[in-house]
Amino acid sequence: MFLKLHQFLEKKSFGLLLGIIGVVSVGGLVEIAPLFYIESTIEEVEGMRPYTPLELAGRNIYIREGCYTCHSQMIRPLRDEVERYGHYSLAAESMYDRPFQWGSKRTGPDLARVGKKYSDEWHKLHLENPRAVVPESIMPPYKFLSKRELNFREIQAELKTNQRLGVPYTDEMVELAESDLRTQLDEFADDYDGFIARYPKAVVREFDGDADKISEMDALIAYMQMLGTLVDFDEYQAQKDENLR
Ligand code: HEC
Repeated sequence: MFLKLHQFLEKKSFGLLLGIIGVVSVGGLVEIAPLFYIESTIEEVEGMRPYTPLELAGRNIYIREGCYTCHSQMIRPLRDEVERYGHYSLAAESMYDRPFQWGSKRTGPDLARVGKKYSDEWHKLHLENPRAVVPESIMPPYKFLSKRELNFREIQAELKTNQRLGVPYTDEMVELAESDLRTQLDEFADDYDGFIARYPKAVVREFDGDADKISEMDALIAYMQMLGTLVDFDEYQAQKDENLR
Protein backbone atom coordinates (compact mmCIF):
# COMPACT_ATOMS: atom_id res chain seq x y z
CA MET A 1 0.00 0.00 0.00
CA PHE A 2 2.76 2.43 1.01
CA LEU A 3 4.75 1.38 -2.03
CA LYS A 4 1.81 2.34 -4.23
CA LEU A 5 1.49 5.70 -2.48
CA HIS A 6 5.18 6.26 -2.96
CA GLN A 7 5.00 5.40 -6.62
CA PHE A 8 2.19 7.89 -6.99
CA LEU A 9 4.09 10.62 -5.13
CA GLU A 10 7.23 10.11 -7.15
CA LYS A 11 5.31 10.71 -10.34
CA LYS A 12 3.43 13.78 -9.12
CA SER A 13 6.02 16.31 -8.06
CA PHE A 14 3.44 18.64 -6.52
CA GLY A 15 2.12 15.82 -4.37
CA LEU A 16 5.67 14.99 -3.34
CA LEU A 17 6.23 18.62 -2.41
CA LEU A 18 3.11 18.64 -0.20
CA GLY A 19 4.25 15.37 1.36
CA ILE A 20 7.67 16.82 2.14
CA ILE A 21 6.14 19.95 3.67
CA GLY A 22 3.87 17.78 5.81
CA VAL A 23 6.68 15.59 7.11
CA VAL A 24 9.07 18.48 7.76
CA SER A 25 6.38 20.46 9.63
CA VAL A 26 5.70 17.60 12.00
CA GLY A 27 9.43 17.22 12.64
CA GLY A 28 9.79 20.95 13.18
CA LEU A 29 6.84 21.12 15.56
CA VAL A 30 8.15 18.30 17.68
CA GLU A 31 11.53 20.00 17.98
CA ILE A 32 10.51 23.63 18.29
CA ALA A 33 7.18 23.67 20.15
CA PRO A 34 8.54 22.42 23.52
CA LEU A 35 11.00 25.33 23.57
CA PHE A 36 8.10 27.73 24.04
CA TYR A 37 6.92 25.93 27.14
CA ILE A 38 10.13 25.53 29.11
CA GLU A 39 11.42 28.46 31.13
CA SER A 40 15.00 28.35 29.95
CA THR A 41 17.09 26.25 27.61
CA ILE A 42 20.24 27.13 29.53
CA GLU A 43 21.07 25.14 32.63
CA GLU A 44 21.84 27.64 35.37
CA VAL A 45 25.20 27.35 37.04
CA GLU A 46 26.25 28.59 40.44
CA GLY A 47 28.58 31.56 40.38
CA MET A 48 27.46 33.24 37.16
CA ARG A 49 26.61 36.89 37.70
CA PRO A 50 26.15 39.88 35.40
CA TYR A 51 29.32 41.80 34.51
CA THR A 52 30.40 44.65 36.75
CA PRO A 53 30.15 48.06 35.05
CA LEU A 54 33.95 48.16 34.62
CA GLU A 55 34.06 44.65 33.14
CA LEU A 56 31.22 45.57 30.81
CA ALA A 57 33.11 48.66 29.68
CA GLY A 58 36.19 46.49 29.12
CA ARG A 59 34.14 44.06 27.12
CA ASN A 60 33.03 46.92 24.87
CA ILE A 61 36.67 47.73 24.17
CA TYR A 62 37.38 44.06 23.47
CA ILE A 63 34.62 44.18 20.84
CA ARG A 64 35.61 47.62 19.51
CA GLU A 65 39.23 46.53 18.96
CA GLY A 66 38.19 43.31 17.27
CA CYS A 67 40.00 41.03 19.71
CA TYR A 68 37.42 38.40 18.77
CA THR A 69 38.82 38.24 15.24
CA CYS A 70 41.90 36.45 16.61
CA HIS A 71 40.66 35.03 19.91
CA SER A 72 37.83 32.66 20.74
CA GLN A 73 36.04 32.37 24.08
CA MET A 74 34.71 28.87 23.66
CA ILE A 75 36.53 25.79 24.89
CA ARG A 76 35.17 22.76 23.10
CA PRO A 77 34.71 19.49 24.96
CA LEU A 78 37.65 17.90 23.19
CA ARG A 79 40.53 16.42 25.11
CA ASP A 80 43.30 18.59 23.65
CA GLU A 81 41.34 21.78 24.34
CA VAL A 82 40.36 20.82 27.87
CA GLU A 83 43.96 19.90 28.69
CA ARG A 84 45.25 23.17 27.32
CA TYR A 85 42.61 25.65 28.48
CA GLY A 86 40.65 24.02 31.32
CA HIS A 87 37.06 22.87 31.73
CA TYR A 88 35.05 23.14 28.52
CA SER A 89 32.76 26.18 28.25
CA LEU A 90 29.23 25.92 29.59
CA ALA A 91 26.26 27.60 27.91
CA ALA A 92 25.61 29.47 31.16
CA GLU A 93 29.02 31.11 31.01
CA SER A 94 28.01 33.25 28.06
CA MET A 95 24.36 33.72 28.93
CA TYR A 96 24.80 37.41 29.80
CA ASP A 97 26.83 38.10 26.66
CA ARG A 98 25.14 40.30 24.10
CA PRO A 99 26.50 39.52 21.61
CA PHE A 100 28.40 36.36 22.60
CA GLN A 101 32.17 36.32 22.05
CA TRP A 102 32.67 32.70 21.06
CA GLY A 103 34.61 33.83 18.00
CA SER A 104 35.33 31.67 15.00
CA LYS A 105 39.08 31.89 14.58
CA ARG A 106 42.10 31.33 16.78
CA THR A 107 45.10 33.24 15.56
CA GLY A 108 45.88 33.64 19.24
CA PRO A 109 44.82 31.29 22.06
CA ASP A 110 41.32 30.90 23.50
CA LEU A 111 40.64 33.44 26.24
CA ALA A 112 37.61 31.88 27.94
CA ARG A 113 39.69 31.11 31.08
CA VAL A 114 42.48 33.65 30.87
CA GLY A 115 41.39 35.35 34.13
CA LYS A 116 43.99 35.12 36.93
CA LYS A 117 46.45 33.37 34.59
CA TYR A 118 48.71 36.44 34.41
CA SER A 119 49.28 39.52 36.56
CA ASP A 120 47.80 42.90 35.66
CA GLU A 121 51.33 44.11 34.90
CA TRP A 122 51.79 41.28 32.43
CA HIS A 123 48.54 42.19 30.67
CA LYS A 124 49.47 45.85 30.52
CA LEU A 125 52.94 45.12 29.10
CA HIS A 126 51.53 42.55 26.69
CA LEU A 127 48.78 44.82 25.38
CA GLU A 128 51.14 47.77 25.02
CA ASN A 129 53.80 45.72 23.29
CA PRO A 130 53.16 41.97 22.91
CA ARG A 131 56.75 41.34 21.76
CA ALA A 132 58.06 42.62 25.11
CA VAL A 133 56.75 39.54 26.89
CA VAL A 134 56.24 37.01 24.09
CA PRO A 135 59.09 37.62 21.60
CA GLU A 136 57.56 35.53 18.81
CA SER A 137 54.08 37.08 19.16
CA ILE A 138 52.27 38.40 16.10
CA MET A 139 49.60 40.21 18.15
CA PRO A 140 49.31 43.93 17.33
CA PRO A 141 50.19 46.47 20.06
CA TYR A 142 47.44 48.51 21.79
CA LYS A 143 49.58 51.11 23.50
CA PHE A 144 46.96 53.85 23.25
CA LEU A 145 44.65 52.02 25.66
CA SER A 146 46.74 53.18 28.63
CA LYS A 147 46.58 56.80 27.50
CA ARG A 148 42.92 57.00 26.62
CA GLU A 149 40.47 57.88 29.35
CA LEU A 150 37.55 55.51 29.61
CA ASN A 151 34.29 57.03 28.44
CA PHE A 152 31.62 55.68 30.76
CA ARG A 153 28.96 58.35 30.49
CA GLU A 154 26.50 55.79 29.15
CA ILE A 155 27.30 52.92 31.49
CA GLN A 156 24.09 53.36 33.48
CA ALA A 157 21.97 53.33 30.34
CA GLU A 158 23.83 50.25 29.22
CA LEU A 159 23.10 48.35 32.42
CA LYS A 160 19.49 49.40 32.08
CA THR A 161 19.34 48.12 28.51
CA ASN A 162 20.81 44.80 29.61
CA GLN A 163 18.28 44.69 32.44
CA ARG A 164 15.43 45.15 29.97
CA LEU A 165 16.83 42.33 27.87
CA GLY A 166 16.69 39.96 30.84
CA VAL A 167 20.13 40.23 32.43
CA PRO A 168 19.43 40.17 36.19
CA TYR A 169 20.79 43.62 37.07
CA THR A 170 18.83 44.95 40.05
CA ASP A 171 17.56 48.54 40.14
CA GLU A 172 20.22 49.19 42.76
CA MET A 173 22.96 47.98 40.42
CA VAL A 174 21.65 50.26 37.66
CA GLU A 175 21.40 53.16 40.07
CA LEU A 176 24.98 52.70 41.29
CA ALA A 177 26.54 51.84 37.92
CA GLU A 178 28.90 54.77 37.78
CA SER A 179 29.92 54.62 41.41
CA ASP A 180 30.46 50.84 41.17
CA LEU A 181 32.71 51.40 38.19
CA ARG A 182 34.91 53.68 40.30
CA THR A 183 34.74 51.39 43.35
CA GLN A 184 36.22 48.47 41.41
CA LEU A 185 39.42 50.47 40.98
CA ASP A 186 39.81 51.35 44.66
CA GLU A 187 40.17 48.78 47.44
CA PHE A 188 39.63 51.50 50.02
CA ALA A 189 36.39 52.85 48.58
CA ASP A 190 33.59 53.41 51.10
CA ASP A 191 31.22 51.09 49.30
CA TYR A 192 33.68 48.19 48.89
CA ASP A 193 31.53 45.72 50.85
CA GLY A 194 28.34 46.71 49.06
CA PHE A 195 30.07 46.34 45.72
CA ILE A 196 31.34 42.82 46.50
CA ALA A 197 27.88 41.83 47.73
CA ARG A 198 26.41 42.98 44.42
CA TYR A 199 29.16 41.39 42.30
CA PRO A 200 30.65 38.38 44.12
CA LYS A 201 34.23 37.43 43.16
CA ALA A 202 34.83 40.78 41.45
CA VAL A 203 38.50 41.73 41.47
CA VAL A 204 38.99 45.18 43.00
CA ARG A 205 42.26 47.01 42.40
CA GLU A 206 44.02 49.63 40.33
CA PHE A 207 44.45 47.56 37.18
CA ASP A 208 46.84 49.65 35.11
CA GLY A 209 48.87 51.00 38.03
CA ASP A 210 47.91 54.61 37.32
CA ALA A 211 45.50 55.89 39.96
CA ASP A 212 45.24 59.34 38.41
CA LYS A 213 42.87 58.36 35.66
CA ILE A 214 40.44 55.66 34.64
CA SER A 215 41.83 54.39 31.37
CA GLU A 216 40.56 52.01 28.74
CA MET A 217 43.41 49.74 29.84
CA ASP A 218 41.87 49.56 33.35
CA ALA A 219 38.58 48.36 31.90
CA LEU A 220 40.07 45.85 29.47
CA ILE A 221 42.32 44.25 32.11
CA ALA A 222 39.38 44.07 34.56
CA TYR A 223 37.46 42.17 31.88
CA MET A 224 40.40 39.84 31.10
CA GLN A 225 40.96 39.01 34.78
CA MET A 226 37.31 38.00 35.22
CA LEU A 227 37.10 35.65 32.23
CA GLY A 228 36.45 32.09 33.34
CA THR A 229 36.79 32.80 37.07
CA LEU A 230 33.11 33.00 38.07
CA VAL A 231 32.19 29.32 38.08
CA ASP A 232 33.99 27.10 40.60
CA PHE A 233 34.52 23.95 38.58
CA ASP A 234 35.48 21.73 41.51
CA GLU A 235 32.15 22.59 43.05
CA TYR A 236 30.36 22.25 39.71
CA GLN A 237 31.79 18.77 39.18
CA ALA A 238 30.97 17.70 42.77
CA GLN A 239 27.39 18.88 42.28
CA LYS A 240 27.15 16.98 39.03
CA ASP A 241 28.50 13.78 40.58
CA GLU A 242 26.05 14.23 43.44
CA ASN A 243 23.12 14.48 41.00
CA LEU A 244 24.22 11.33 39.21
CA ARG A 245 24.29 9.30 42.40
C1 HEC B 1 46.07 39.64 14.80
C2 HEC B 1 45.54 38.74 15.81
C3 HEC B 1 45.34 39.22 17.22
C4 HEC B 1 44.55 40.25 17.68
C5 HEC B 1 43.70 41.21 16.86
C6 HEC B 1 44.60 40.19 19.11
N1 HEC B 1 45.43 39.18 19.52
FE1 HEC B 1 45.77 38.63 21.44
N2 HEC B 1 47.08 37.19 20.80
C7 HEC B 1 47.37 36.93 19.48
C8 HEC B 1 48.42 35.91 19.44
C9 HEC B 1 49.03 35.34 18.16
C10 HEC B 1 48.73 35.56 20.76
C11 HEC B 1 49.78 34.55 21.27
C12 HEC B 1 51.12 35.22 21.45
C13 HEC B 1 51.11 36.20 22.59
O1 HEC B 1 50.89 35.79 23.74
O2 HEC B 1 51.27 37.40 22.33
C14 HEC B 1 47.85 36.39 21.61
C15 HEC B 1 47.82 36.33 22.99
C16 HEC B 1 46.94 37.02 23.79
C17 HEC B 1 46.80 36.84 25.22
C18 HEC B 1 47.54 35.82 26.08
C19 HEC B 1 46.72 34.56 26.14
C20 HEC B 1 47.38 33.42 26.87
O3 HEC B 1 46.64 32.58 27.40
O4 HEC B 1 48.61 33.36 26.89
C21 HEC B 1 45.85 37.74 25.65
C22 HEC B 1 45.35 37.92 27.07
C23 HEC B 1 45.41 38.47 24.48
N3 HEC B 1 46.08 38.00 23.38
C24 HEC B 1 44.48 39.47 24.51
C25 HEC B 1 44.08 40.22 23.40
C26 HEC B 1 43.19 41.35 23.46
C27 HEC B 1 42.54 41.88 24.72
C28 HEC B 1 43.06 41.82 22.18
C29 HEC B 1 42.27 43.02 21.71
C30 HEC B 1 42.63 44.29 22.30
C31 HEC B 1 43.84 40.94 21.33
N4 HEC B 1 44.45 40.00 22.09
C32 HEC B 1 43.93 41.07 19.95
C33 HEC B 1 46.79 37.49 18.37
C34 HEC B 1 45.91 38.56 18.40
